[in-house]
Order: sequence, then structure tokens, then C-alpha cells
Amino acid sequence: MDKIVIEGGVPLSGEISISGAKNSAIKLMAVCLLTDQPLELTNMPRLRDTRFMGQLLASLGTQVEEGPGSRMLLHANDLTSTTAPYDLVRKMRATFNVLGPLLARCHKAKVSLPGGCAIGARPVNLHLDALQALGADIELSEGYVIASAKGGLKGADITFPFISVGATEHTMLAAVLAKGETVLNNAAREPEIIDLANCLNAMGAKITGAGRSEMRIEGVKSLKGVTYSVVPDRIEAGTYALAAATAGGKVRLVNVRSDHLGSLWPLIAQAGAKVTMDENSVLIERGSTRLKPVDMETQAYPGFPTDLQAQFMAMCCLADGVSIIRENIFENRFMHCPELARMGADITVHGREAVVRGVEKLTGAPVMATDLRASASLIAAGLAAQGTTEIARVYHLDRGFEHIEVKLGNCGARIKRVSE
Ligand code: UD1
Repeated sequence: MDKIVIEGGVPLSGEISISGAKNSAIKLMAVCLLTDQPLELTNMPRLRDTRFMGQLLASLGTQVEEGPGSRMLLHANDLTSTTAPYDLVRKMRATFNVLGPLLARCHKAKVSLPGGCAIGARPVNLHLDALQALGADIELSEGYVIASAKGGLKGADITFPFISVGATEHTMLAAVLAKGETVLNNAAREPEIIDLANCLNAMGAKITGAGRSEMRIEGVKSLKGVTYSVVPDRIEAGTYALAAATAGGKVRLVNVRSDHLGSLWPLIAQAGAKVTMDENSVLIERGSTRLKPVDMETQAYPGFPTDLQAQFMAMCCLADGVSIIRENIFENRFMHCPELARMGADITVHGREAVVRGVEKLTGAPVMATDLRASASLIAAGLAAQGTTEIARVYHLDRGFEHIEVKLGNCGARIKRVSE
């Protein structure tokens, strides 16, 4: 199994080009199930998660081709199956989102329940309630959702009891081909939701209000093929920005949508790094002055993203004072704390709150990646630490970061991947 080995203590210097957004790409891939025309996605990141989604789509009869550069061609003209088996869904939760498109196009589907994961229980009740509101009959049997919609799905007025990115996207993917209008109240407003709506609209869907909490979807009979470019990954961009603030140095991020990280930039500046930005690039600079403590809590967009919480904590570990970090989205997303503690961090967790008492230096240590974003926090800490950090279980990182060791290596980091 691969390991990442970092010799820390070197400031970063250089330019990093941000890839297409993982969290958008995997939902956009599911769009291909809604049409018999080809869907070409450009600016696609090459990741384990996109590969898993490709495997699932192929098992349903979709032609999946990775083109040159960062293109992917998906063509579901002849679906041969409407069953998404446990073995594929358990590898990546977002594959569950094929349920809605299969129901919309084929009027039936059997999809494995995704189960929990390292960051918490992560139920799908909101997804199922919304599909039922659209007229689906749903039965749970032996770990599977067995759904049907004789005569097709019908538009409905749906109010989510709380904000869910997954349930909002899933309902959009089902409602675009439903008869009549669907209104989504208390919808998630993440940039990935807007990206999904933009792609669907380019195919002929009629979605208005994406990015606001009330969204309207006028169902259409069919969708046409399109070539669509995936939005830049705000989480990857935020991860490198935080790594630069933590390790120090001067890093320019390019191919980035700085407006998608409005909650991050003021907090990085408060911590003592200089942030200079224009529309498509952001420069992060920090010299030798000590970082300052910053309190932060995660929220649905436009609040601070839960997917950057671990990386933000790595930065706070080196601040001159105490930072309080509150995780509001997931109940169990502090597994990086004991690993950071192995590197000398002083963190106490009380329920959903972590108290981070900054230390003067972190020290390299063998640590273990526990989930995707937690792994990224260990990389940032390793870059800033004195000595050698070895991060095991890097397959977590490969789920969501394209060529992380190459991108950081180009900025002078002493980082390498070692196969055992
Ligand atoms: C969430 C994050 C998203 C992040 C992703 C991966 C938010 C609002 N969402 O999206 O930014 O990229 O994790 O880390 O920040 N829930 C239910 N029932 C459901 C669906 C969700 O109880 O049917 C709960 C979840 O357990 C969670 C909350 O609602 O506590 C938000 O979940 P949701 O936004 O759906 O999660 P993801 O789509 O995975």
C-alpha cells in the first residue's frame, strides 16, 4: 500500500493549478443516465471516486471513455441494468445518486443503501422522502432501495427539513424529467448545485433559482447531449491555500473560483497570511511571523465548508493562542485530532467542538489517514513539521486529490509517494 513521506519545515513557493471539482464531477457523471445522447465532461479530475462512479455507470450499460486531457465521454443510449449493487455503492456514497435518474428515465431502480462511513451515520432519509414526494413507490429490502414510478415521476412541492447537498442534488436529478413543476424549498446553495443546474439546463432542462434556497424545476420530456466543463474544485483550492498558510511561503493558485471560498479568505487573513486575489487566481503569502488563533464553525454554503475543517485545524495547531473549531455538519468528524496530536498538536475535543491550543512547532511522525479531508490536514501539518512525516492509507487522498504530491512537489515541498 502506498505511503506519502514528507520532509517538513520547507516553505512552499510556486503555482498550483486547481482541477475540476470532485463533488461536482461525480454528480455530473450521473446526469448521463437521463439521456440517450452523449454527455462530454471536460475539466474532469482523474480520481478514485470518479473511477468508482465510472465503474457503476458502466455496469448499468453506459459507455464510459476517458478522453485526452481531462475529458470524459459518457453515453447511456442503451441501459442494460437498473440495479446498483452493494459492492459498487459501498465504495463511494455518491453513487447512490443514480437512483433518481434511473427512476426518472426507466421508472424503476434497485440501488444498495450506502451505509455509514468514517465521518458519521450519513442517512439518506431526505433523499427517499423527496423521491416519494415525486411519486415513487419505495421499499427497503435486504439492504437495497427498490423503487418504482409507474407512469413516471410527477412534480411536487418539497420542503427539506434541513439543508442537504446530497438530497438537493438527488431530487434535481429526478425532477428534471418529471411531469409538471417541482419546487424545492430550503435547498442547498453550494456552487456544485449551480454547476449541476447549469449542465442540466444546457441539455434542455428548465431549472431556475439554483444557488438560492427556493429552486424551481419545470419537468421536460427529454434532454439532449452536451459538452460541459466541471467547475474548479473549491475544496482542493482551499486545501492548498491552507497548506501554504500553515507551512508558510508564497503560493499562487490558478484556475480557481475565488468567489466560491468567500468564507475562507477572511479567516486565513485573520490567521496572519496575506491573501491577494482576482477572479481566477489567488496568491497566499506568509513569512516567518507566527500564526494567530482563529475561531471557526462549519456551515452549509455560503458558510465555512466542512470539507476544509480538518485542514483549517492543522493551521490552528501552530497559532499563538487558542482556537475553537465547531463542526456543525457531521457528528464524528474529528478523527484527525489524535493523528495531529501524534505530531505534537494540543487539541481537546468536547462533542462537536475542538479546542486547539497552538504550539510553537509540530514534529514529524508516522500517522494514518482516516478519511479524505483528514488526510489532507495531515499533509499540511507534515509540510510545516520539523522532520519526517509518513502518512499511511493514502488511498483516502487518492479519492479526492489529483496528483497531490506532484502539485506540492512543484512548490518545493519535499514530498514523495512510496509503494510498499
Ligand atoms: C456534505 C456536505 C458537503 C460535503 C460532503 C462531503 C454540507 C451541507 N454538506 O454533503 O459540503 O462536500 O458532505 O464531506 O456541508 N442528512 C440526513 N439525511 C439525509 C441526508 C443528510 O440526516 O437524507 C444529514 C447528514 O447526516 C448531515 C447533514 O444532513 O448531518 C448534511 O448532509 P448532506 O449535505 O446531505 O451531506 P452530503 O451531501 O454528503
